[in-house]
Amino acid sequence: MSADTLAAPRTPHTTPRKRGANLEKWGWIYMRASGVLLVVLIFGHLFVNLMLGDGIHGIDFAFVAGKFASPFWQWWDVLMLWLAFIHGANGMRTIVNDYVTGATARRVLVWALWLSAGLMIVLGTLVVFTFDPCLGIENSTTEWLIEKCAA
Ligand code: HEM
Repeated sequence: MSADTLAAPRTPHTTPRKRGANLEKWGWIYMRASGVLLVVLIFGHLFVNLMLGDGIHGIDFAFVAGKFASPFWQWWDVLMLWLAFIHGANGMRTIVNDYVTGATARRVLVWALWLSAGLMIVLGTLVVFTFDPCLGIENSTTEWLIEKCAA
């Protein structure tokens, strides 16, 4: 069998298996498990933001401030952020490994993927948990927010 031919399924291993955790297997399982959770999180997010209440016309700064005032929506959004970024980065890693033939280019791209996903996860998590709706309140015209920040 030449190097660019796939072995038939269930062909016995000819090289010894590596010891330790099988990260490729866990990555494969992660894609399926996070996919199931993302369906619920993403469609729940779209339904609540776009269908309930005034729908898309109700989305403004105060709407976001209202959601981030609730630990439930904070955790919903952070979970969506973590799962989607790790899912997207791991999916892109698969594509890079499949198509980029140069070992150095592949290593650089996979590093860049995890670095950018990690940075976005840290920044996004900070935004959600340190969000202060009263910063810049002097420019707000939303009654309940002005009252809340004055209290
Ligand atoms: C509705 C939610 C989602 C579901 C159910 C889902 C499901 C999946 C599954 C099962 C795979 C593995 C496919 C395979 O190994 O052949 C996959 C791959 C992938 N997903 Fe998602 N996904 C979702 C959302 C997302 C999001 C939000 C992103 C981007 C941030 C994303 C980016 C990717 C990428 C880049 C791949 C790799 C594609 C490939 O291997 O060809 N997915 N997805």
